[in-house]
Amino acid sequence: MRNFSTILVTGGAGFIGSNLINYLFGQGGFEGRIVNVDALTYAGNPESTAEVLTAHGGKRYFFEKADICDRPAIEAAFEKYHPDAVVHLAAESHVDRSILGPEAFIKTNVMGTFTLLDVARTAWKGREDVLFHHVSTDEVYGSLGDSGFFSEETPYDPRSPYSASKAGSDHLVMAYHHTYGLPVTLSNCSNNYGPYQFPEKLLPLMILNMLSGKPLPFYGDGKNIRDWLYVEDHNSALWTIMRKGEVGRDYNIGGENEWENIRLLSRLIEIVAEETGADPETYRSLITYVKDRPGHDRRYAIDCSRIKSELGWRQAHSFDEGLRDTVRWYLTNPGWCERVRSGEYRSWLDRNYGAR
Ligand code: NAD
Ligand code: DAU
Repeated sequence: MRNFSTILVTGGAGFIGSNLINYLFGQGGFEGRIVNVDALTYAGNPESTAEVLTAHGGKRYFFEKADICDRPAIEAAFEKYHPDAVVHLAAESHVDRSILGPEAFIKTNVMGTFTLLDVARTAWKGREDVLFHHVSTDEVYGSLGDSGFFSEETPYDPRSPYSASKAGSDHLVMAYHHTYGLPVTLSNCSNNYGPYQFPEKLLPLMILNMLSGKPLPFYGDGKNIRDWLYVEDHNSALWTIMRKGEVGRDYNIGGENEWENIRLLSRLIEIVAEETGADPETYRSLITYVKDRPGHDRRYAIDCSRIKSELGWRQAHSFDEGLRDTVRWYLTNPGWCERVRSGEYRSWLDRNYGAR
């Protein structure tokens, strides 16, 4: 089992990254230092790791505001903290934004990943006791029909600028391993849900729109299928791979939990109504079918038997329990939602879709 003294997390102010930092200092039992490198784009909110900052700031937890495309800044972070592991989450992550403005996705996801890899290669100088773990998505595999699953052998077939940029970054990671011997691992995960998710993604958007009586916008016929995983289960998988995964190997991570969007919303409406005491019909009346997302992938489903059989990882959260915990988190953290929505996100939405 690998151990690390200093982990450099990129994108640690985002949804999965902040949950990962909280997990590593908590249930994950990591005993070393964490350096969070994040540019604080519209999607980054350092409040999401506030408790870790209070408990460990300046001793075991450090924050560096830096763009992963800024080579001198990344070199400085390596020189200052000497990390022996990188877990790379920083990315532009929202498919709709990639359709409206692909350039930022190519910059951060492709050039940013390249910059990090190259700085790590230079700083680590052929060391074998280090690890670069790259966090990627099942969207690189494209779209499934009614049957079948994405396995690690499925050929890449990305359909959106977002997934194409992630596919490019995955190839760079593997190329750095094969060409330069950089010790890497790679994971491709399905849709995450949980606390601190930016309310442009389906679940938090729908929860907050229900609470404020706004339309619940469904793309196309609402029958696209996604495989949902609680964010803490994703993070336990990342930590398992970092400690036990084979260098140069990729691992699929999924919830084995497929839901048609509209069926998922029905369940969400029931839970929100139970938690708020409202009449579910009030929420149902807000459902609005809107123009489909261009290139909208129909179905994602993950075969995650490799990480289960080789590394012994398992999902620990049932969907119903995770969904209810998520709803409760959004109900009890209106301040976080208000602050994260008040900036660039609001103006971007208004410009592109009108207030909703
Ligand atoms: P997010 O959008 O919530 O957070 C991204 C974070 O990266 C933000 O804190 C942002 O400030 C930071 N960032 C963006 N550009 C940066 C740059 N140039 N330099 C430094 N920091 C920058 O994203 P997320 O949902 O937490 O996703 C994290 C990673 O996991 C991404 O790589 C994504 O592709 C991958 N992933 C996400 C999901 C999902 O369901 N959300 C599923 C599978 C994989
Ligand atoms: O599969 C992993 C991916 O999951 C990650 O790589 C991405 O970073 C993450 O954003 C997510 O991508 P999706 O496109 O699947 O997530 P999103 O929440 O945007 O949409 C989920 C589904 O809901 C999808 O079929 C589109 C649909 N949708 C989404 C929104 C925001 C709607 O019908 N209406 C909406 O308003």
